[in-house]
Amino acid sequence: MKTIFEKSKIGSKGVEIKKQNVPAYEFPEGYRRKDLDLPEVSEIEVVRHYTGLSRRAFGVDNGFYPLGSCTMKYNPKVNEEVAQMRGFTNIHPLQNEENAQGALKAMHILSEYLCEITGMDDITLQPAAGAHGEYTGLKLISKYHKARGDLKRNKIIVPDSAHGTNPASATLAGFEVINIKSDEEHGVDLEELKKVVGDDTAALMLTNPTTLGLFEKNIVKIAEIVHGAGGKLYYDGANLNAIMGVVRPGDMGFDVIHLNLHKTFSTPHGGGGPGSGPVGCKEEFACFLPGPKVEKYGEEYFLVNLPESMGKVGSFYGNFLVYLKALTYILTLGKEGIPYSAKCAVLNANYLKAKLQDKFDTEKDRHCMHEFVISIKKIKEETGVSAMDIAKAMIDGGVHPPTMYFPLIVDEALMFEPTETETKETLDEAIELLNDLHARAYSDPESLKTAPHNAVIRRPDEVMAARKPVLRYVKP
Ligand SMILES: Cc1ncc(COP(=O)(O)O)c(C=O)c1O
Repeated sequence: MKTIFEKSKIGSKGVEIKKQNVPAYEFPEGYRRKDLDLPEVSEIEVVRHYTGLSRRAFGVDNGFYPLGSCTMKYNPKVNEEVAQMRGFTNIHPLQNEENAQGALKAMHILSEYLCEITGMDDITLQPAAGAHGEYTGLKLISKYHKARGDLKRNKIIVPDSAHGTNPASATLAGFEVINIKSDEEHGVDLEELKKVVGDDTAALMLTNPTTLGLFEKNIVKIAEIVHGAGGKLYYDGANLNAIMGVVRPGDMGFDVIHLNLHKTFSTPHGGGGPGSGPVGCKEEFACFLPGPKVEKYGEEYFLVNLPESMGKVGSFYGNFLVYLKALTYILTLGKEGIPYSAKCAVLNANYLKAKLQDKFDTEKDRHCMHEFVISIKKIKEETGVSAMDIAKAMIDGGVHPPTMYFPLIVDEALMFEPTETETKETLDEAIELLNDLHARAYSDPESLKTAPHNAVIRRPDEVMAARKPVLRYVKP
């Protein structure tokens, strides 16, 4: 496919700019570009170009997207409609509070709902993603300990099943990371935890359900151990989709949490955003939250900067339009819809797991939550077909691959998260595809090792693609 620059032809136009009857404004010389290398193409070429590009990408609107730990649920279009309302899109972040009352009210209501759903006392909407929320939440914990003169607490405990962003955020926030092994049931090993916890523990970071899709049954005991040593409990809320409206992190003993609005609360994501990672906390941390915060006095809303605040972590008030999508989603689901949706996510994952577990190795003795992990280790030993090969072959079958090689504690891992928005028919088609791939691994392994056969991009050098992405067209 040619780039839009290669399609460019001098003189082609998509729009005709009419001669204006107002005097032309002369920009000062310093602000003027010397040249502007824009492609020159007609309207139909632009339309075909972007439609062509969109056909090459795979999204939730194209098909089943069971990417574990990412909650690629269908995002109702009504969310977009609300986020596109002119009253919301035509305001400016520097506008006075009195003529942005609607926007402030929306942020305030969303904050209240998120506190209610998570069992927190206060929240900031500012962080732009989950990892950004982790960093903000850990800084909050750091501020809290320091304000009490508890300066020794410089360690964050992270289980070996944690998402990679957890240790990365802890390091970035200035902490030392202590890794602990999981027990036989893939939960936090309580004896290991007791060994490392102490008067230098700032916090333990945990996601519940864990990245293996299993509910951490010992959460109350874990909270007792960490709190008993004066540490705090940080909740990585990326997996909240399994429990929203059913059980609250605040009631499990968590002190500080982040949410991924772009996952649980339905904003299209992947490919770089925009996202939103609000950070909620218990009362004792609230004075340190980033500002400005929206506060309600009487019937009016104000932007308030708290004197002890840790400062801003993003520009202006964060990704405002994502808040509107999340708020619309919460309001359309309502009090009954939110737990129902979580239960359907868990049901769908268990249905898929139950139908696959005879052929693929997985945790058979327990029900999973919203996701589960299968291991291709045995299949690889017997046929040479790896988790990567199965994932690539799924693309030919019209299904987005699951998350691969994560969590790190499972060999040849494939992690499936079907989400609540998929029908039984879609799940059955995926089961048929995976059974077929299992059979082909034994009968025709080469066809999987060379997959995908029908995709535009087949097997790129993934390290180079991540480390040195080519994102700009350079004119030859
Ligand atoms: C368990 C878990 N924690 C944290 C994150 C980080 O979230 P984000 O990608 O929004 O930074 C993810 C993302 O996939 C995740 O799965």
